[in-house]
Amino acid sequence: MACIVNFSAITQPKPQPCFASLPASTSSHRSNSPKLQTSYLSFASNNSRISLRYDRTLAVSPPRETLLSKAPNFMIVAAAKKPEPLKIMISGAPASGKGTQCELITQKYGLVHVAAGDLLRAEVAAGSENGRRAKQFMEKGQLVPDEIVVMMVKERLLRPDAHKNGWLLDGYPRSSSQATALKEFGFEPDLFILLDVAEDTLVERVVGRRLDPVTGKIYHLKYSPPETEEIAARLTQRFDDTEEKVKLRLCTHHQNVEAVLSMYKDITVKVNGNLSKNDVFAKIDSVLDELLEQRKAGSGYLEANKA
Ligand code: AP5
Repeated sequence: MACIVNFSAITQPKPQPCFASLPASTSSHRSNSPKLQTSYLSFASNNSRISLRYDRTLAVSPPRETLLSKAPNFMIVAAAKKPEPLKIMISGAPASGKGTQCELITQKYGLVHVAAGDLLRAEVAAGSENGRRAKQFMEKGQLVPDEIVVMMVKERLLRPDAHKNGWLLDGYPRSSSQATALKEFGFEPDLFILLDVAEDTLVERVVGRRLDPVTGKIYHLKYSPPETEEIAARLTQRFDDTEEKVKLRLCTHHQNVEAVLSMYKDITVKVNGNLSKNDVFAKIDSVLDELLEQRKAGSGYLEANKA
């Protein structure tokens, strides 16, 4: 398929006059051969590159005398669109390994990790009004009201780094109203990862979990112990990481999970989260790899009438 573009501003096959209206990365060259009479013009924006070819044979027989008929014709010979960054949601019961997998995913794919629980804990630590209110719900293992969580997540997703690098949303949405709010703000994920873990394993993971306040790294006393004595000495435990509280969180999770899943069923990948953290990651990694390959193929390196 050939696309013909008429540049009415140009009366000679010289690409230079176009430059004023094209992005800074525009480049051009002309064939030295007098027979070919061909000029190339290429320009790029953040997401795409378009290459144009001027061919004298296209310009010599205009269809009829119009305002544009003296203008040379450029043919799009190649257009490549850079794939959009990934937008992923990860979900699962308390301690199913969401945070652990997010660490590995962001290391490899450079997505911005947005964890609703971390945003809330930061508010609690800052002693803000929202933090004080949120803590009352978190201590009971209940969902923090939407008016606090929804805006917090929205504001984080709107920051330029998330827009540029893509995002990995962890622990949000947890109700259909949160999912609907996100959609209304225009945030649509490409993939919904669901970590599936047996219930008795979850309790053991919560009770043994420890956090490094210096690096933010998640440890487990049995499955992922700290590397050094120095790290071991500074580890902390979350205020809601007790057996009693995780049971409340599990109950809340069961009440809401189906409503959320039903909204993303077309893009959901269920991953067995009972395996070791590296095996779980290997599965997620293969899904993300495949998604990126599909993106590249779909972004269409369009070549028409190649010179
Ligand atoms: P949040 O912080 O999101 O807690 P959660 O959902 O209960 O999940 P966790 O952070 O406990 O677990 P995780 O799945 O990240 O597991 P991790 O990787 O750490 O939310 C806390 C509270 O905030 C909620 O209860 C609610 O009150 C509020 N809240 C949050 N989001 C909200 C929202 N959207 N709306 C309203 N309120 C909200 O792993 C756990 C442990 O297991 C670690 O020790 C780890 O080392 C170990 N581990 C991980 N993977 C493996 C593995 N494969 N094998 C062996 N061990 C493993």
